[in-house]
Amino acid sequence: MSCAQLMGSCFPWRLGTVAPRHLSAYGRRISVRFCSSGLTLDKISRAAVDRIIRVDHAGEYGANRIYAGQMAVLGRTSVGPVIQKMWDQEKDHLKKFNELMVAYRVRPTILMPFWNVVGFALGAGTALLGKEGAMACTVAVEESIAHHYNNQIRALMEEDPEKYNELLQVIKKFRDEELEHHDIGLEHDAELAPAYAVLKRLIQAGCSVAIYLSERI
Ligand SMILES: [Fe+2]
Ligand SMILES: [Fe+2]
Repeated sequence: MSCAQLMGSCFPWRLGTVAPRHLSAYGRRISVRFCSSGLTLDKISRAAVDRIIRVDHAGEYGANRIYAGQMAVLGRTSVGPVIQKMWDQEKDHLKKFNELMVAYRVRPTILMPFWNVVGFALGAGTALLGKEGAMACTVAVEESIAHHYNNQIRALMEEDPEKYNELLQVIKKFRDEELEHHDIGLEHDAELAPAYAVLKRLIQAGCSVAIYLSERI
């Protein structure tokens, strides 16, 4: 249902149940009440943007920690430069979301210290299986992140592509770079990792849990 339809069907005074309140200047600007919840449409899209920036910041932070873990184990091997290049792009992604958090006044997830440890352990742990293990981890994580970014792009396009243009451009660019990392993983023998299918499925299940939690707390 579109916002206009919601507004049309959910004005409480149309239902004859609640009279519109007298509002402050700020309140009048966001005075469209949303059904019986008392929420406003502005507040709803604000909450959605908060969630998007919080979870993306956490994801980019986690990706940085994964590549740090991989570099700690494989930094001096033949794939070191390949991993370093992907890590450098993740540093740019994280920097951008740090800036967006300040611009949109979004707080980080309280799970940051947890993702710090888990991300590094995942990167180092899979790298200990060999370069194929590290690349399998990259394929699994980057596929999950690209899928997650695609969902956000769809949601923002449906909501208001003009209003969220800046965020959309950032997410689209990063989505493309995550897909490049995914392809680099495949080119570097990710599928030859021990128990590749199981490993990939486990890591992606972990990513889903991380996304769910980071959006909410
Ligand atoms: Fe990234
Ligand atoms: Fe990436």
